Order: sequence, then C-alpha cells, then structure tokens
Amino acid sequence: MELINPWSSQQYKDYAKLRDQFGIQEFNFELPNAPPIFRRGVIFGHRGFEYIYNRIKRGEKFGVMTGLMPSGRMHFGHKMTIDQVRYYQEQGADVHIAVADIEAYASRGISLEKAKEIALEEYVPNYIALGLDLKRTEVYFQSRRREVKDIAWKLAKKVNLSEFLAIYGFSGETNMTHIQSPLIQVGDILHVQYEKFGGRRPVIVPVGVDQDPHMRLTRDIADRWRMFSISPQEKGMGVFYKGEDVEEKLNRARDKLEEYGFEKFEMNIPYKALYILDASEKDYIRIDEALISLEEEFNPEVFFPPAATYHRLMTGLTGGKMSSSQPETAIFLTDNPEEAKKKVKNAKTGGGATLEEHRKYGGKPEKCAVYELFLYHLIDDDKYLREIYNSCKAGERSCGQCKKEAGELLAQWLKDFREKREWAKDKVSEIVSLE
Ligand code: TRP
Ligand code: SF4
Repeated sequence: MELINPWSSQQYKDYAKLRDQFGIQEFNFELPNAPPIFRRGVIFGHRGFEYIYNRIKRGEKFGVMTGLMPSGRMHFGHKMTIDQVRYYQEQGADVHIAVADIEAYASRGISLEKAKEIALEEYVPNYIALGLDLKRTEVYFQSRRREVKDIAWKLAKKVNLSEFLAIYGFSGETNMTHIQSPLIQVGDILHVQYEKFGGRRPVIVPVGVDQDPHMRLTRDIADRWRMFSISPQEKGMGVFYKGEDVEEKLNRARDKLEEYGFEKFEMNIPYKALYILDASEKDYIRIDEALISLEEEFNPEVFFPPAATYHRLMTGLTGGKMSSSQPETAIFLTDNPEEAKKKVKNAKTGGGATLEEHRKYGGKPEKCAVYELFLYHLIDDDKYLREIYNSCKAGERSCGQCKKEAGELLAQWLKDFREKREWAKDKVSEIVSLE
C-alpha cells in the first residue's frame, strides 16, 4: 500500500480512493454560515468530526488547533486553512496555532531564530489580517512549550518503532530529530486539552490530507491512554475499564452516566464491564463525553479523540504542485496586485488547445487552475459559480474572460488585504506567547 508522506510534494488526484484506503470518513455535514469550501467538496473527508458537530449544534465549547510551517511565504493554499479556523472561531471555538519550528528544523534545516522571524513577520500578521479574533487566538512555538515536548517523550511510551516505520516509511538514514518530530505534533494537538490551555474538549484540526499520518498517530496515542472504552453489544452499549479498582470505577461510571440521562445498567465485575441497556450506537459520543468527564478526575492523560477534516490541496497555477519556493505556481497573500494578475494570465487552464476547439468541445473546469481560484476563494455565490462551470463546458466562455475576471477579483482582494495587513502588524505581540 502507498504511504502518505507529509514531507514530500506528492499530488493526490483520487480523493475518494485515499479515503477508502486510509479509513477517512466522507464529509457531508451541513454547517450553518460556513465558507463555500465546506459545501463544494473541497473539504472531502474527516475523522471524528461528529464530536465537533454536536458541540456546534448545542453551542458548547470546543477548540481549533492548527500549525504553520515557518518556511517561505504564505500563499492561497495556506489561506484555506485559516478560512476554516476563522469559521470555527465564529462558532465559539478558541484557537491555538503552533509555529512548527522543531519540525522546520528537523525536516528543512531551518534554524529556530529564522523560524521565529518568518512566523512573526510573514504568517502571524496574515492570520490577524484574515480576521482571527485577537482575544481568542494564541500562537506559540513548539521549541518553547514545555507541555508539548513532555507529551512527545511521555505519551510515546505507547507507540513503538515498527508502527512508526509503517506509518512514515522512515529509513535507516532518517535523522533522529526528524523521526521525533511527529511526536512533537502529537504534543501540539493534545496539550491544548490540558487545563492550562482550555481543558478537556473536542478539538478540530483542519488539514490537507498530507497531514493524515500525524492525525492517525495522534488519535491512536490518545486512544491508548484511555482507561475506559466503549463497544456496542447485542443489546445496549458496553463500557469497559482496564485499570485498578474496577468495581469502584464502574460504579462511578454508572453514576456519571445517570447524570447524562441513562437509566438501565447491568454490571459484570469479572468482565470489567458495565452494560448500558437503554443506549445504542447513536449514543456513543454522549457516553464518551460522560466517561471523559469522569476519567479526567483520576487520569491526567485523558483526551477527547482529536477530530480532523481534510481538504484537497490546491493545484499550482502552472498545473503542478503549489509551492512557496516556486513563485509562479502560487498567489502569495502579499503579492502586489499587478504581479498577481500576471500570474493568473499565465496560469494553466482547462481550455481547448485552440479557441476553435474550445468553442466546439468546451473546456474542463475541473482541470483548471483559474476555476480553482473561483471555487476555493474568489466566488461565494454558488449560482454564479455554476454558471461559469456550465458556460465553460459548453464552450461559451473563453479562458481570456475567466482570467480577466479572476485577475480583477484577486487584485481587489489583495489591495484590501494590504491595508488590513498594515493594521495587523502592530497587533502581533497580542497573540504570540513565548512559552
Ligand atoms: N506539520 C504541519 C505542516 O507541515 C504543521 C503543524 C505543526 C501542525 N503542528 C501542527 C498542523 C498541529 C496541525 C496541527 O504544515
Ligand atoms: Fe478554466 Fe474558464 Fe477556461 Fe473554463 S473557460 S477552462 S473555467 S479558464
């Protein structure tokens, strides 16, 4: 089976296949007032999003976690993640952002000083200018946060080298800092559930699918530290406890579950089991919420399973990968508007080889970098987007027309953004934590 490599520049084409291969669930939640990418198939998969969905529906607290790789400049591919973060923040989530300086040092040889400079001068002002709420956003550095590094060595006790090799395909030549860096990311994602950083709550991590290996690792590790587990039974749901003092713990579990509205129980101490007879699989999350709130009282390493959503990676403007190191492949948030128009003009489209062919056979918007700009970023109105799609297919719309329109929308966006960014520069210290 092919592996997903978070540090390579692979392009993924067949997202449905990826989903099947790695057990990612299809994303089809309806979210009120969400940005268009949530309903246009750009966010195509998830793990454990139900926990988040429930909390949004009930107006209960949850968190968002993301990280930035401090190398190069921030482009529209990166913007997509922040659009999602902002949406969750509007729904009440608090936001933590890791500057992945250890990972940048490990996998790209970037010094911690350089990473700090890039984060503070390039990324953080952009995040603020994109509209993150200063009062509920925190940016920190992996290398400076004790709790993150502690999780990396401590919780790694429950994962072994063979699993690491199977997940990441490391070889004998991989340096040890690089080998450790996924554990640092596990620390990023889990530490925000410690009391000091907001407490036990579901946390959503919106990522490109290249980050899925880290999510799988984190979810596995979190799961292995749990003392309670849940599994469906022929009748009802079973709760199992794997630590000491089984009877006491199962009694407390029953009391807690009663608070959550369950009434009929059966206990089997030798099996270390408590059966909830008036529950079914649809109560899974509610049961889990109850058990976590109990387990929290005696297990310092209990966590909600971190949730992830996966978005498609934007194609580069030239048809290949969008990359910070190749400026012609990406629109950067700080590009000047004229430069950006030029990039759009030179972009690879899905148009016919000649205008004649294009008129006759139509274009391929699904293979068009300009259409992608509309779809991901520039056009909110679904109806209008569909019109573009259809008229392209019918050969009625020319690529020149699209490029002109995209160029103008983009130039306007960049102009507005430039102003916001000037304002944002002074606010950086308000959200950055140095420990
Ligand atoms: N590995 C991520 C990247 O390459 C950055 C990152 C670090 C991250 N810690 C994280 C992403 C925690 C999500 C959550 O972009
Ligand atoms: Fe892309 Fe527009 Fe050309 Fe269609 S007409 S291929 S959408 S640029």
